Amino acid sequence: MLLSLEELTMEEHDLKAVAGLLRRAKRVAVLTGSGISAESGIPTFRGKDGLWRQFRAEDLATPEAFERDPALVWEWYNWRRGLMSKVEPNPGHKVLARWERHFSQFALITQNIDGLHRRAGSENILELHGNIWKLRCTKEDTVMDNFEYPLSEIPPRCPSCRALLRPHVVWFGEPLDSTNLNKAFLLSSTCEVLFSVGTSALVHPAASLPLAAAESGAKVVEINPDSTPLTSYADFSLRGKAGEILPLIDQYLMMAH
Ligand code: OAD
Repeated sequence: MLLSLEELTMEEHDLKAVAGLLRRAKRVAVLTGSGISAESGIPTFRGKDGLWRQFRAEDLATPEAFERDPALVWEWYNWRRGLMSKVEPNPGHKVLARWERHFSQFALITQNIDGLHRRAGSENILELHGNIWKLRCTKEDTVMDNFEYPLSEIPPRCPSCRALLRPHVVWFGEPLDSTNLNKAFLLSSTCEVLFSVGTSALVHPAASLPLAAAESGAKVVEINPDSTPLTSYADFSLRGKAGEILPLIDQYLMMAH
């Protein structure tokens, strides 16, 4: 659904102001969550048809669940790979891919594991929660690309040592990769503008990144149809879908060039 003319007019001021910020900015950071992929057809976690409303994370997304029943966990990830392999990046992903080339310093930090940012053309992506198209050997810790769907072997095994492979994603109770996380904090606290797009801003440490940006004096822009715990800290809260709002901001930004 497109924004009606009335809504557009109400938001026009904010959209123009955000485009104005971007026009002057050299260092821009964007944090994305599952909401940016919702318009591509991938379910979010906590929305109406969200994954965590249908499944228990404890049964499927913890190291204990994998130890208990690796085949069950892999069936679920195989099913999710199926959903993700059938969809395409949407205009929101595409605008962010363009912005990587537009700004002198542009950081794309995502909590998503779906790989859609890369398919949209982004190259430099900090994937805080890993990537569903990568597998990791539970014995040797090696990480390998794997785009097979459906998987030919469940649970899959390491081609070199036959140990179990796991999805290269972060599960509940596991720490994030510290190099990635430190980079994300550095980029967030040194940017001039940070966008928080399509995330409920509930899961830390990712949810702390916009706060770190705000504390360091960056302008924070939230794009989300709903309010979140971040909304009261944001300088601009653009209520709507990422696939509609990002292209509108991009249009205003490009008009000035
Ligand atoms: P959530 O499901 O918690 O939040 C999705 C957010 O996207 C909500 O605030 C929605 O209002 C918003 N949203 C929905 N449609 C949108 C659209 N078209 N445009 C913009 N926003 C939209 O998902 P995340 O915030 O990504 O972690 O969840 C964070 C982490 O929690 C995930 O990475 C995952 C999960 O447990 C792990 O698996 C480690």
